[in-house]
Formats: sequence, structure tokens, C-alpha cells
Amino acid sequence: RGPVVVLDGPAGSGKSTVAKLLARALGVPHLDTGAIYRAVAYHMDSKGIPPEDSELLLRELEVTRVEVSQGFVRVNGEDVTREIRTPHVDSIVSHYAAIPAVRRALLGLQREQARDGIVAEGRDMASVVFPDADVKVFLTASPEERARRRHLERLSKGEDSDYQQVLRQVEERDRLDSQRECSPLKVDEGALVFDTTGLSVDEVVLALEKEVRS
Ligand code: CDP
Repeated sequence: RGPVVVLDGPAGSGKSTVAKLLARALGVPHLDTGAIYRAVAYHMDSKGIPPEDSELLLRELEVTRVEVSQGFVRVNGEDVTREIRTPHVDSIVSHYAAIPAVRRALLGLQREQARDGIVAEGRDMASVVFPDADVKVFLTASPEERARRRHLERLSKGEDSDYQQVLRQVEERDRLDSQRECSPLKVDEGALVFDTTGLSVDEVVLALEKEVRS
């Protein structure tokens, strides 16, 4: 089987772009675990179930089937790939992701994807989901650079975007993700910390590919 490589890091650190290209270079699948949390948040929110309502949430989790394959995300058969990338989902996802039962319910699905090797990205890949990964990387960049990337990404898709608002959202999500009790975003002991501020995507991918092959 191919290598198991994990990338953790805060919002907008470039994980998705880098993970996709690195997976292609290594010939293994790419797993975006953020998309899974986004899909659950989107689904619960659409059903009118707030993160605080643990009873309803637990009941709905039991009948919620998330599938990921080749860049698509489905919830109970419905394709939600586009719907999960909105500013609204950005603003609610961390509240659902902080709930232990949600994280537990998604563990098996994530691990199943790594049968033939994987490049998996998220917040707790190194610490919880793939503690035995062959290579662990923590990608980061300054909050301003991360917000700028997200802002430009939105504009390039023809969407409205306000840089200051994106920056505030990125900082708020980082705060929620690093301060939650269950599986917080942190640098794992075995992880290589890689600051991508000022680096191009290609530079980052090349450096990581070298690291995996060494
Ligand atoms: O792409 P971006 O970095 O903005 O976020 P994402 O990777 O799509 O993740 C969205 C949210 O899901 C994060 O802010 C976390 O709250 C949650 N998440 C998580 O808790 N654990 C993961 N392994 C992946 C994402």
C-alpha cells in the first residue's frame, strides 16, 4: 500500500490545495475531512437541529450516512459538495465539530479511506484519526495570509467577499478549533511544522513530497 500522510492546520493554511496535489504526486487518494464535518453541519442545520440540542442531534446522527469519494460529498445520497462551501457553513461548522459524539461517529468513515494509503487533511489527523501515520505535517501561515487566500478564492469563484470579515471568521474558527476540549487543533509531537507564508503551492508540495520519499 502507499504511504499514510497527514496534514493538520488552521483554516486557510493551504491544506486542501497542497493535499490534493501531494496525493496525486504520491499516487494515493486524498481525503478532506473538513468536508465531512461541513456536510454534517450543513445537514443538521438544514434539518433545524442546532448544536446545543444533543438529544435530537444524537438521534439524527444515527440515521445520517456520509459518503466521500473523488471530491464529492453526499449525505444520505444527496450531493452536498457545493452547498458545504458557503460563508454560512464556515460560521457554523466548528460548533458541530466540537461535539464528541459527532467526532466519534465520523471516525470509522475517515479510517476506512486509508486502506491503500492516503493524504488526509484536517485538524486531528495526527493526534486522533491516524496516530500511526508515516508522515505528519502541521501546515500553517499567518492569519492575514490565510484570510487573504480564502478571500481571493471566493472572488475568483465570482462570489462576494469582504477581507475584514473573512479575517474575523478565520480567527474565530481557529479559536474554536484550538480551544475545544475534544480533539483540539494542535501540533502533534511527531509532526513537522511547515509555515507556508510567502511560499507558492508548488514549493510546498515539492518540499513535502521530498519529505515523504526520504
Ligand atoms: O478549509 P478550511 O481550513 O477552512 O476548513 P475545513 O478543513 O473545511 O474544516 C472546516 C471545519 O471543520 C474546521 O474549522 C473544524 O471546525 C472542523 N474540522 C475538524 O474539527 N476536524 C477535522 N479533522 C477537520 C475539520
